[in-house]
Amino acid sequence: MQEKELTTKQRLRSIKKFNARKYRELKRLRRRRSVPVSEYTTQMADPNNLLEIDDLHTYFYTDIGTVKAIDGVTFQIPRGKTVGVVGESGCGKSVTSLSIMRILQEPQGQIASGAIRYNQLAQNRAIDLVKTPLKEMQKIRGGEISMIFQEPMTTLNPVFTIGKQLDEAIALHSKKMPKKEVAARSVEMLKLVGIANSEGVYKMYPHELSGGMRQRVVIAMALACNPNLIIADEPTTALDVTVQAQILDLLRSLKEKINASIMLITHDLGVVAEMADLVVVMYAGRIVEQGTVQDIFHRPMHPYTIGLMKSRPNFVESGDRLYSIPGNVPSPIDLPNYCFFRNRCSQCIAACDGAYPPLMAVSDTHKVACYLCENAQGKDGE
Ligand SMILES: Nc1ncnc2c1ncn2[C@@H]1O[C@H](COP(=O)(O)OP(=O)(O)OP(=O)(O)O)[C@@H](O)[C@H]1O
Ligand SMILES: [Mg+2]
Repeated sequence: MQEKELTTKQRLRSIKKFNARKYRELKRLRRRRSVPVSEYTTQMADPNNLLEIDDLHTYFYTDIGTVKAIDGVTFQIPRGKTVGVVGESGCGKSVTSLSIMRILQEPQGQIASGAIRYNQLAQNRAIDLVKTPLKEMQKIRGGEISMIFQEPMTTLNPVFTIGKQLDEAIALHSKKMPKKEVAARSVEMLKLVGIANSEGVYKMYPHELSGGMRQRVVIAMALACNPNLIIADEPTTALDVTVQAQILDLLRSLKEKINASIMLITHDLGVVAEMADLVVVMYAGRIVEQGTVQDIFHRPMHPYTIGLMKSRPNFVESGDRLYSIPGNVPSPIDLPNYCFFRNRCSQCIAACDGAYPPLMAVSDTHKVACYLCENAQGKDGE
């Protein structure tokens, strides 16, 4: 008994030591005064992409061990397209977006390895956001890449008026704009997102607005500086269905107006089907399937994606119970060395006992990480 206790103690001590080393490494990195531009400029693999996430690993060094929240994720966001990211709660969708914005909870949360190449069109160069110094990141956040969070009150400050907060967001990225012009732009943005009484709302506090209006304000704030990429993390989950449809329409039309790309995170497959051009399905910090919206909705191949499709409410005949995938996601601290979905999968074959399956291309656009699809190459779409 005592021996076991000792080993646990030893284990915790070694985790603490390991974490302290990681925190020190990060501190050293942050302390650097000037980082030469050449260190973070890079080349896009395809200039038509706005963002290329390449083998990203984001870990949280916690007291009970390393949480591998993102464990080797690779996908691209082409210019002017919407990429839907779906998956069960805890699969790493939000951590992916926080990694892009570099707003992880430090020092526990860190990008351990990988690259996030961003095509900085205005400056005619590409940069790796993982290596970009934070000072430079501050210029990109909000101005070039903006984020819409699930709960509007996490973005809005309750003690300032809507106008003041919108003005501040605009002035931050257009420092030379006169105050009057900034205020006019704020009102114009409120109008653009469908707020009728925009001049009245400009003077109001967040608590005086309904949830749907607050979310519109957050969208106005995110779009105020004409971003190239909008990351929307569950933008409509807190809203009722009618407002949800309005907000999605709004996002779509605004995206077209400013020709931005959208990374749309949601667990609502209906929203993805309606909004996205490309879909990425995540499971336990990895991508299990990716493809065009037709690939994923008409020809889903990974048993997990098929399970997700079956658990959509509109698949239920009256009286039937809603399907749910049995079992639980493995702990992100002790991930197995075989397919993470194996223990929940009803279609396992002998190969599933082997190493984690690589992402295999079944067509030019469609990739699946499952041994069942090993021989499906070229058969997709037949
Ligand atoms: N600050 C943190 N410290 C430790 N672990 C964290 C932290 N933030 C996230 N994680 C872990 O990272 C993993 C991915 O979390 P993430 O928030 O990205 O999930 P998600 O896919 O966005 O889920 P949801 O659909 O519920 O929003 C989870 O296992 C979570 O426990
Ligand atoms: Mg999330």
